Amino acid sequence: MSTGVLDPADFRQVLGHHPTGVALISSVTAEGTPVGMIVGTFTSVSLDPPLVGFLPTRDSASFAEIAKVGKFTVNILAHDQEPLCRALSRPAATKFDGVEWSPSGNGSPLLPGVVGSIDCTLESTTPAGDHYFVTGRVESLAIHRPVAPLLFFQGGFGGFVPGSFVAPSDGIVAGSIPIVQRIRNRMQELAHAAGGEVTAYAKVADHAVAVATVAAPGVPPSTVLGSKLPLTPPFGEVFLVGAPEAEVEQWLASAGGSTDDEVLSVSRERLAHACRHGWTGSYAGDTRDRLLFPALNEYGVDSVTPARQREVRQMLHAAVQELRPVPLEAQTLYHGASLVAPIRNAHGRCELMLRLCRIPPTPGADIAAWGLELRRLAETATENR
Ligand SMILES: Cc1cc2nc3c(=O)[nH]c(=O)nc-3n(C[C@H](O)[C@H](O)[C@H](O)COP(=O)(O)O)c2cc1C
Repeated sequence: MSTGVLDPADFRQVLGHHPTGVALISSVTAEGTPVGMIVGTFTSVSLDPPLVGFLPTRDSASFAEIAKVGKFTVNILAHDQEPLCRALSRPAATKFDGVEWSPSGNGSPLLPGVVGSIDCTLESTTPAGDHYFVTGRVESLAIHRPVAPLLFFQGGFGGFVPGSFVAPSDGIVAGSIPIVQRIRNRMQELAHAAGGEVTAYAKVADHAVAVATVAAPGVPPSTVLGSKLPLTPPFGEVFLVGAPEAEVEQWLASAGGSTDDEVLSVSRERLAHACRHGWTGSYAGDTRDRLLFPALNEYGVDSVTPARQREVRQMLHAAVQELRPVPLEAQTLYHGASLVAPIRNAHGRCELMLRLCRIPPTPGADIAAWGLELRRLAETATENR
């Protein structure tokens, strides 16, 4: 770029490398007509007093109407609302044609399916070159749908995926399919015999991805293929079977610096059990099946937000008491047992795991027997690689 007269194309190109969110600023005229404009310049301005801002072009017909009304609603668009965004980027006169909306708290158009909305009164309008810098005083605000927002970057639309939820290679999942295919019948037999569900998970970066699942008759399948579980303590110990201590330390550290010591000690115990017995499990409750797994299934991977990730971690940490591999009493009935076993590769490392869950209340002696069965099945898969 030259240091003399600024080339507008350069300005646009360089600024286009900075991503923005996408919001609709909406209002209703005195005649009851909806008006609004899509902006990429919406931003938080001040907490005390609560102010937000955006930058309309000086010649925006829509902003002229919004300024007359003196109040507006900010609609934060979700990752799957690109078509709506495009419709609302049309010229002012037709942009609301065919667009569904309901009145927000201050009467402005509120779009269904938005991530959140912020009702404002117009606070200030300051000229800023060929734009205005507009601030609005926040009167009320709400999250409607806590999913990933729509983003605008280099002239294109996209979504947001938190770093640790990114699966770098579908190849890893594809490579595990033949291995699982070979033991599928035995997975089915085990699911039938135990009256539960058997699922195979492949390790993809720091996640376990469900690649195959079978269930006993009358047990409705609960695992969505392709759903991802974060391999962070106290979850994912089987993938550390055969790993050097440095990797175990790394896995423990991924729980976060402020993690309760109990989460770390239970994680170590589970790993030690898996190394010693070839399987490990939890048999003191079904929090994982009741809360965690449905929560993860519900969220498609492209709409997992960092907030959701934190919630999942908290759920895992809260369930830690259930996850401790306590000594099994042969006659005692255990509810909500969930057993896992590593399938190892030629180097002894675990890249796939089997999980048996959703079995009915079962005596300790039988749980230990299922653990052994699961281990045998995993060993067969290892031998057949
Ligand atoms: C992703 C995206 C971001 C935009 N950001 C702004 C913005 O910050 N300010 C602005 O004036 N127009 C912005 N526009 C253009 C307006 O949405 C709109 O098309 C233009 O202002 C027309 O205004 P009118 O409704 O007054 O005719 C953006 C459009 C898109 C698609």
